Amino acid sequence: MAALAVQAWLLFLSLFVTSSSAATWSPILPPSFPLAVKNPYLSAWLPGNQAANLPSAQPEFWYANALNWSVIARVDGTAYNLFGVPSPEENTQSATVVNGSFTSTRSTFVLTAGDASISLEFFSPVSPNNLRRQSLPFSFLTVTASGRDGATPSVQVYSDIDDTWTGQSSSSTFNQTTSGETHVWQVKSNNQVTYSEVNQMAGWGEAVYAARADSFQSGAASTVRSRFVSSGSLTNSTSDWSAGSVVGLAFDLGTVSSSTSAVYAIGYVREDAINYRGTPYTGFYRATNPNTVGAASHFLDIHDDAVSEADSFDAKIKSVGESSGGSNYTAILELSVRQTFGGIDITIDGSTLDTSAPYAFIKEISSNGNLNTIDIIFPTFPFLYEFAPNLIKLLLNPVLAYLEGGTYPNPYMIHDLGSHYPNATGHDDGLDEAMPIEESGNLLILALAYQTATGDTSWATSHAALFKKYADYLVDNGLYPTNQLSTNDGLGAFTNMTNLGVKAAVGLTAYGKLTSQTNYTTKGQDFAEAIWGGTETTSDGLGSEVSSDTAQSYFTTTYSDSSFFLVFNVYPDVLFGLSTFPNATYTATSAFYPTVRGPAGVAIDGAVNWGKTDWQIWTAATVGASTQAMFIDDLYAFVANGINTAPFGDRYWTAGDSVGETAESFRARPTLGAHFAVAVLKLGVDVWEWAV
Ligand SMILES: *[C@@H]1O[C@H](CO)[C@@H](O)[C@H](O)[C@H]1NC(C)=O
Ligand SMILES: *[C@@H]1O[C@H](CO)[C@@H](O)[C@H](O)[C@H]1NC(C)=O
Ligand SMILES: *[C@@H]1O[C@H](CO)[C@@H](O)[C@H](O)[C@H]1NC(C)=O
Ligand SMILES: *[C@@H]1O[C@H](CO)[C@@H](O)[C@H](O)[C@H]1NC(C)=O
Ligand SMILES: *[C@@H]1O[C@H](CO)[C@@H](O)[C@H](O)[C@H]1NC(C)=O
Ligand SMILES: *[C@@H]1O[C@H](CO)[C@@H](O)[C@H](O)[C@H]1NC(C)=O
Ligand SMILES: *[C@@H]1O[C@H](CO)[C@@H](O)[C@H](O)[C@H]1NC(C)=O
Ligand SMILES: *[C@@H]1O[C@H](CO)[C@@H](O)[C@H](O)[C@H]1NC(C)=O
Ligand SMILES: *[C@@H]1O[C@H](CO)[C@@H](O)[C@H](O)[C@H]1NC(C)=O
Repeated sequence: MAALAVQAWLLFLSLFVTSSSAATWSPILPPSFPLAVKNPYLSAWLPGNQAANLPSAQPEFWYANALNWSVIARVDGTAYNLFGVPSPEENTQSATVVNGSFTSTRSTFVLTAGDASISLEFFSPVSPNNLRRQSLPFSFLTVTASGRDGATPSVQVYSDIDDTWTGQSSSSTFNQTTSGETHVWQVKSNNQVTYSEVNQMAGWGEAVYAARADSFQSGAASTVRSRFVSSGSLTNSTSDWSAGSVVGLAFDLGTVSSSTSAVYAIGYVREDAINYRGTPYTGFYRATNPNTVGAASHFLDIHDDAVSEADSFDAKIKSVGESSGGSNYTAILELSVRQTFGGIDITIDGSTLDTSAPYAFIKEISSNGNLNTIDIIFPTFPFLYEFAPNLIKLLLNPVLAYLEGGTYPNPYMIHDLGSHYPNATGHDDGLDEAMPIEESGNLLILALAYQTATGDTSWATSHAALFKKYADYLVDNGLYPTNQLSTNDGLGAFTNMTNLGVKAAVGLTAYGKLTSQTNYTTKGQDFAEAIWGGTETTSDGLGSEVSSDTAQSYFTTTYSDSSFFLVFNVYPDVLFGLSTFPNATYTATSAFYPTVRGPAGVAIDGAVNWGKTDWQIWTAATVGASTQAMFIDDLYAFVANGINTAPFGDRYWTAGDSVGETAESFRARPTLGAHFAVAVLKLGVDVWEWAV
């Protein structure tokens, strides 16, 4: 009997241990959960390896700067730390993490605390065609409590932030405003330098924490939190900033049976958002909400509609993923959406607040901070083309306006509009990172993408002279590229880089289609024939087959070596039906890429051990079904492998000592819109509409 009892006890114990300690993750445990990811300076994440210990977790800015953001709940008089409390107050317990999940707009964690089940929903709305909404520099945290197993506990909810959100904490100012029912905290550093960065965070502007809460308080973390722990409410008193102090907001949810929520808005406001050649550009929303308290209040007003839109948008992304690539692909897409928009600001001229001429700006996060890099917009375009083609135009408009002003000296397309976000200074000295073929081709392909998706021909017409200039540049310089960089500048500069020749070929056929000039189409096809080989269709005298191997089974890195390259620049050929390369090219590469697959995927180039997730999925869209599944499953395996903690890195080791690891300097980049390449090829343009 005794032995049996011990066995039963062990069985019970193992069941108990299994069920209490193993939180579940859906669809995967990602490298990092997006928490508040809305623009380059509102970018808060939770490394995946901390999710199981949510009560003591430390969220981070994308650059890994620690952020303090806590949530504590009181359930029937007992306080439970739910999130972000590395140093718990006395008389508190840790809640138990049940599960974590994400959709395209939300990361949600469920915990149990006494008789309550409590979810934390970190929600960054994506509303790509509603410029006012998309520009609001806020995200939601919604804390929802319900009774477990029919219980009706009494629940109060508390949350705070501090000046880690302002980028530096040597000295800050707190201020509190109550407007109607809304309490708004503004926290700003006392060392404001407009348009400067401090460890990648904004060195100007202010962090905002707002809620229609029942009470508020600022002061030393231990004072404010212990007040909540002991009484379930705050004092409504404010104290001046001092080192280590927090701003808190508390709700009394009362006795809860079914779900009852506390909604917080967290934000980072830069009134002068972008420096466009000396003119301050501000958030689009400021035309209707010119002050920060009003904007935060408006954001809380639209919460319920934002939830409806997100329910619908999340379902759209899920169905797009499932129908075009299956569940692995869906997880990749869901994790890509907020990160893409987390690199973008939607703005208007701050002096006129004229909403008829908005400009969008994108930051080349982590790789170098450039503003509106053309070869960052380019990989991102599949998402924009599918759901929000107008944004392609809004991202290019500030660049084209600059180029048409005539002060950029080079004959080819510019690389970016400023060496460091948020300064859109242009490059009157012509010393931007030169990628002549790369960017000239990119511009023409992006123009075709916008025109194809929208049917608007007037935009290309109004920039006809500029586009022709770059098309003719490709005609003259595109087939045998001189020693120069491509978008993969980490590989260095080469002469006769195959992928650039392909860019020129596809850029020219794209321009031919954009402007209905068949002579450019023919020119691009001639380039392609010279590069890949095949039957000479016109007597163009270009020679043939400089860059495929002699068996025409793959593309080489340069015209004079035999190393393979992942030639992703053929994707627009397939997407837009440009007939640049013969179908045999795609049959051949479909068979070839599986033969050079490393343990964690296909590298960008036979000479290196790293891959680019954006270009892998572009290429996946051009090859047959089984090779496509290989690319998707390898990317899924990378993002789900549990060994990375940086926000989705688009460059990772496909082989070698660090196989499966993110190359850390490529994190949180907005290029993940590229992952929609397969979806939009199969499903077409599907502009996201949401009537407000
Ligand atoms: C805020 O974060 C810093 C850096 O991790 C940490 O030293 C400090 O204790 C945190 N403050 C609170 C109140 O948790
Ligand atoms: C998380 O757990 C809650 C409570 O058991 C459950 O209702 C919810 O469906 C779970 N979510 C996921 C994604 O598993
Ligand atoms: C709070 O700060 C904002 C922004 O710095 C400022 O406009 C406002 O006047 C301040 N309000 C109070 C009550 O100090
Ligand atoms: C942007 O330019 C301003 C000067 O106008 C400078 O103070 C600031 O440091 C620059 N920002 C960055 C991130 O380089
Ligand atoms: C704090 O202010 C709210 C109104 O905003 C009020 O209902 C509450 O009683 C106040 N709490 C304290 C402790 O004064
Ligand atoms: C580029 O390739 C062409 C064709 O193979 C060749 O004629 C030319 O010499 C190459 N250019 C350089 C600089 O190697
Ligand atoms: C194509 O034809 C147009 C109109 O005749 C001409 O302006 C342009 O230079 C030609 N371009 C090429 C590459 O042949
Ligand atoms: C090439 O492939 C496309 C798309 O599958 C098809 O429509 C076209 O007929 C093919 N062309 C040839 C010459 O086989
Ligand atoms: C998802 O990817 C993993 C890892 O590559 C693979 O083992 C699995 O079969 C894939 N699942 C589906 C449903 O395709």
